[in-house]
Amino acid sequence: MTSHPVLPEPIYVTRPLIPAWASIEPALRAVFESGTLTNMGPWHQRLEQQLQERLGHGHLSLWNNGTNALLGMLSQFDLSGEVVVTPFTFPATVHAIATLGLTPVFADVRDDDLTLSAESVKERVTEQTSAVLGTHVYGNFCDTVGLAKVASEGSRERPIRVLYDGAHIFGRKAPVFEDATEIGDATILSFHATKLYHTVEGGAIVTPDADQHRRFRTARNFGILGEEHNTGVGLNGKMSEVHAAVGTVVLDHLDQELQRRADLAARYTERLRDIEGIRILSGDGTFHQYMTIRVDGRIRPGGRDVLRQRLLDHNVVSRKYFFPLCSDIDVYRDLPSARGLDVAERAAQECLVLPLYGDLPASVVDYICDLVDDFAGE
Ligand SMILES: Cc1ncc(COP(=O)(O)O)c(C=O)c1O
Repeated sequence: MTSHPVLPEPIYVTRPLIPAWASIEPALRAVFESGTLTNMGPWHQRLEQQLQERLGHGHLSLWNNGTNALLGMLSQFDLSGEVVVTPFTFPATVHAIATLGLTPVFADVRDDDLTLSAESVKERVTEQTSAVLGTHVYGNFCDTVGLAKVASEGSRERPIRVLYDGAHIFGRKAPVFEDATEIGDATILSFHATKLYHTVEGGAIVTPDADQHRRFRTARNFGILGEEHNTGVGLNGKMSEVHAAVGTVVLDHLDQELQRRADLAARYTERLRDIEGIRILSGDGTFHQYMTIRVDGRIRPGGRDVLRQRLLDHNVVSRKYFFPLCSDIDVYRDLPSARGLDVAERAAQECLVLPLYGDLPASVVDYICDLVDDFAGE
């Protein structure tokens, strides 16, 4: 093992895109001087419009975080019984289903991109199924055509909705959606500070259906349609003017951040792509939210955890993501569907997210690649 000097400061897996204070300050000053701090004020409206312009397809409503967007999305379809969902996702996806009194039913993922397998979904659809909820992973879209087909064949009684957690998907070049099928019946986005594009806390729901879009907008504001007219169940899903103003400034810097990350990701790829037992899972080259590798446990049993510790010993903080699987969370692990998820279980033992953010020095990427190289050469 070659010895490498330990980095003087920890390098974390990501750092929020924080524009210079000189560009944030005037926006925040304008918010506070306006006296309007929330309730879908001018910054909220403007940001919603700007994000809409990057979409390509669908109608976008801005929400105050991805989790409320998930709850808002699921609550505005006539769902009951079971929702077939991926275990390879962040807990919020599955918790939103359970919070609404629906039963999560786990299906396995595909080995090549770790998104929900239409074949496995088909096996788990029953008469009780009212929706399928897939998560786009590391910039890889789910098999949207395959899932739509399974849903359409699923039940004669009522439509099975096809919904997506696209929390990470806004971190790509415009357009975000190349066709409406990629949206399904609806897709949520997260604009949390750890995401490539962020509003500190924030989210959105996108749908191709104009009526459904109106329902989401109403649900975002307690179900209020007019001063004296409340239509039904709703949440407080509104984004504040402070968050919308920060999000507007961050949006101005997004393309520059994307370019920097693309350059760093290319540098990683160049160094790591030919290493035996290491596979790069970073999507289609237009998406740079994450730099994820997979360490083949058949070639190196326990290898991912050994590599992670090696990096940590050198002050490089990588992340097991998604880990643990949602089907291993205490409240879900006794569900019958929590078993037999072989592909997802292996992926959860093998995936490792490496540091990637615009300000990451190229020399640190080289340093991390040296550590991975040494690990693989042992
Ligand atoms: C896949 C996925 N879904 C949902 C969420 C929840 O989004 P938020 O943190 O904006 O509530 C996250 C957050 O990290 C996520 O990664």
